[in-house]
Amino acid sequence: MSGPTAILSALAPEQQGLIEQLEGPQQVQRAGRTFWQGRLRGHPVVLALSRIGKVAAATTTTALIEAFGVQRVVFTGVAGGLGPAVQIGDLVVADAFVQHDMDASPLFPRFEVPLYDQHRFPCDAALTQQLAQACQASLGAAGRTPRLHQGLILSGDQFVSTTQEATRIQSAVRGAGLEPLAVEMEGAAVAQVCHDYGIAFAAVRTISDRADEASAQDFQHFVTHVASHYARAVVGALMPLLPAG
Ligand code: ADE
Repeated sequence: MSGPTAILSALAPEQQGLIEQLEGPQQVQRAGRTFWQGRLRGHPVVLALSRIGKVAAATTTTALIEAFGVQRVVFTGVAGGLGPAVQIGDLVVADAFVQHDMDASPLFPRFEVPLYDQHRFPCDAALTQQLAQACQASLGAAGRTPRLHQGLILSGDQFVSTTQEATRIQSAVRGAGLEPLAVEMEGAAVAQVCHDYGIAFAAVRTISDRADEASAQDFQHFVTHVASHYARAVVGALMPLLPAG
């Protein structure tokens, strides 16, 4: 299907590298947000900041679909690593998202989004495969050899900053048969909106911290110094793999 691709970033430093590469940039204001229309490597795109947290990310995603007619949504951002092998600098491509702070029990099973009959929001298989290919091609762009993981990412309205809290969240979702790789604050909301509209969604998160006592400091350093390099490399490698707009 033709139409622009939305590239969502959580934070301005992650987006900056993409704005610098945008061909024919045009700024549009909507819902108190700035959207950037233009082309990346000839492919029509709309760049936006999700903002932080699930509600803000859902509003941005809805605006991208309703006002800009985007045909697919790609999220590049950062996350805290949860899986034992998921280290700072690694990339995690999501195959699905779960809201770790959703709990309408006993009315609905823990983590299930009420009235959706599901807790897991899968990403689009084809777009995810293209994104994973782009990530593979970009490994090493930050100067070391990070690992590429693929699996479940958790989202919740919480910056996870102690090992105790990270362990609590991990144990809770494991109780529902889920094995998470990373935690962040937006992806599950974007996945749910894309599910509602039947829009393809894929996401990659670079691991900025280990969701532990050092996470705030690690996060700040990573977002300022590293995140934009990853976003630029991955999105640059992804554009030629997408259908012509
Ligand atoms: N995004 C990056 N690191 C995170 C953390 N530790 N918790 C929640 N979201 C994050």
